[in-house]
Amino acid sequence: MQAGREELMELIDLWGYSQDAQTKIMEILASEDVPPPHLFRYYGPTDGKGKVYEAEQMFAESLGTEYALAVNSGTSALMSAMVALEVGPGDEVIVPGYTFFASASIVVASRAIPVIAEINDSLNLDPEDVRRKITPQTKAIVVVHMKGMPADMDEIMAIAEEFGLVVVEDTAQAYGASFGGKMCGSIGDVGCFSFDFYKNAQSGEGGFVVTDDEFQYMRASSWHDTAACWRPNRYEKERREGELFCGENYRMSELQGAVAMAQIRKLPAYIGRLKAAKKSVRDRLELPAAMSLRRQPDPDGDASTALVMFGPDADTAVALAKAMGERGVGAGGRFSKDVRDWHVFNFWEHILEQKTVTAEGCPFTCPYYEGTLPDYGPEMCPNTLDLLGRSLHIGVAETWDDAEGERIATAINEAAAEVLG
Ligand SMILES: Cc1ncc(COP(=O)(O)O)c(C=O)c1O
Repeated sequence: MQAGREELMELIDLWGYSQDAQTKIMEILASEDVPPPHLFRYYGPTDGKGKVYEAEQMFAESLGTEYALAVNSGTSALMSAMVALEVGPGDEVIVPGYTFFASASIVVASRAIPVIAEINDSLNLDPEDVRRKITPQTKAIVVVHMKGMPADMDEIMAIAEEFGLVVVEDTAQAYGASFGGKMCGSIGDVGCFSFDFYKNAQSGEGGFVVTDDEFQYMRASSWHDTAACWRPNRYEKERREGELFCGENYRMSELQGAVAMAQIRKLPAYIGRLKAAKKSVRDRLELPAAMSLRRQPDPDGDASTALVMFGPDADTAVALAKAMGERGVGAGGRFSKDVRDWHVFNFWEHILEQKTVTAEGCPFTCPYYEGTLPDYGPEMCPNTLDLLGRSLHIGVAETWDDAEGERIATAINEAAAEVLG
């Protein structure tokens, strides 16, 4: 069945336009006779050159990469990256202990062993702990740029080169961030992005995979659409070894592609507003010696979605959050080890207890795996728990003007003085 005016009106209703506006829009739409849109990204009247295709071109350009593949979520992007880089049975993949669980779960889903590493005071992967956790089985590093902040990419890329490892950049939370003048997501071998509702750019659900490598792009494409609609002739025999294998379906629809295009276009201005807003607070902070700000591995590259500070310990961080709250500034945190949060490894029971989809226990029992399983447990990354336990997180709003920046900074300074003297 065709999707025509009624479907478009449902979208307009989703945006919340008044009944009056909707009636007027319907009248205008009824006055024009246009063919219904084709909402499938591959083939049809647009010959695959529709909104998703355009979004991919725009996305690759915004990242400075050769290729961008649109998919239906950030998790799908990560899974496609594992396939693109041929990560599988027998491999270990290093992931930080602070990230949304998907960065680690896709390692298990690709039948490899996740090795959980510490974060440092940037709240991103700690290169020193990565170095300690490398074994002969290590194949890849998943580095995550949490809350808009670039990770220590120079060190991580140097380690990867030294040990011959591939790097996946989980940039789900940091579209618009950069490191050393390069966009985050374009520095490692494959970059992964989420376009779910909570991200810097969104299409409700969605994601992108970026790479400069044609073979990796082809493998990601093959995995993301097992029907091979992405190929010039989907039924043709394999054009190149490694092109065809059994995959899944992560295709993005034209509906999401259309929204993604507008969001990609708006991103630079949005990040500019976030940076100005964060700076207006940061520049005015006068924190006591017992407090510190989250380290910025590249201050110019911070996408500025969050302002994060550390107290000297978890109890003081709780008192600081309370004092800030009393002054009208909401600071969240992970003060209690008991509040479940799937962004922190100690709640990843799926991995810590080696839960698997079938009774064989793959990949933890995989005969191809010749290493020694990590000693999984809720205390395995104590620095990560310590840093998160005493961190205070304030979400930055693009609407903060200079006066609001001053108000927030004053509240933080007063709260810090009250609690820490
Ligand atoms: C760091 C990180 N990686 C991956 C994902 C997964 O993205 P999606 O929700 O689009 O699957 C998220 C989403 O919250 C995330 O924050």
